[in-house]
Amino acid sequence: MAATTSSNDRFNTDAATWDGNPTVQRATALAHKAYLAHLEADTDATALATSDVLEIGCGTGLLSLALAPAVASLVAVDPAKGMIAALNAKLESQPSTTNVRTVCATLHGADDPRLQAAVAAGTGVNNGGEKGRRRFDLVVSHLVLHHVPDLDELLAVMFACLRTGGRVLLTDFEDFGPAARSFHPEAKMDGVARHGLKRTEMAALLAWVGFEDVRVETAFSVDKHVETQPGSGDVGPLVKFPFLLCSGRKP
Ligand SMILES: C[S@@+](CC[C@H](N)C(=O)[O-])C[C@H]1O[C@@H](n2cnc3c(N)ncnc32)[C@H](O)[C@@H]1O
Repeated sequence: MAATTSSNDRFNTDAATWDGNPTVQRATALAHKAYLAHLEADTDATALATSDVLEIGCGTGLLSLALAPAVASLVAVDPAKGMIAALNAKLESQPSTTNVRTVCATLHGADDPRLQAAVAAGTGVNNGGEKGRRRFDLVVSHLVLHHVPDLDELLAVMFACLRTGGRVLLTDFEDFGPAARSFHPEAKMDGVARHGLKRTEMAALLAWVGFEDVRVETAFSVDKHVETQPGSGDVGPLVKFPFLLCSGRKP
């Protein structure tokens, strides 16, 4: 699909400078904190220390490496070769992190052999049950869904990747109206499928693919400089962008 391809092209280039973007760093730190707070409050969820985690759209692994010390295993998936290469380089330079595996792919199913191979090579403790297929306790994804044209398809894949009782935690900026478009400068609209997430749409889609205990709530906000005028390329005022945390449980 054209939108996905161009998105990947952009992220292959962006990978080299991604970690130097303070907005990206701040948003990741806030998402990490929001995930931990959510899971701490969810007393029925599998303890993080014994959780096998799947991250969709991991980029250079900022969130992956923040989560890794607290979980049993983490498989980090991204279709952009540049992003996965950046994460692989980090993993090579910190050999003490042994519980992260990477997959360069756009997943269209839970039984994708590349995903299954990564799980089989990993350190997970809870998988290997249901008819030999490997499933996860937790699926996370941060700042990715606004790049995905077919949200219903991806949410269904996430659902299929979970074990019974598994959780999904998704963060991205909210489509709070026309001003949400300014999250991206006009020169970076390539691969942007939507200007943030709509609360009611996310709740309906998560329920539609089968999740229960669906919640969509404002988790934090990120101040970001926008362009003075759309397309000017000039740094303009700081705008507060609310981020939604969308969650659900596989029954
Ligand atoms: C804005 S970046 C966020 C990266 C990372 N999550 C972070 O916050 O630093 C979006 C990422 O989503 C990835 N992506 C785009 N379409 C995707 C899809 N269909 N499935 C998984 N990842 C996708 C891109 O390659 C890119 O790495």
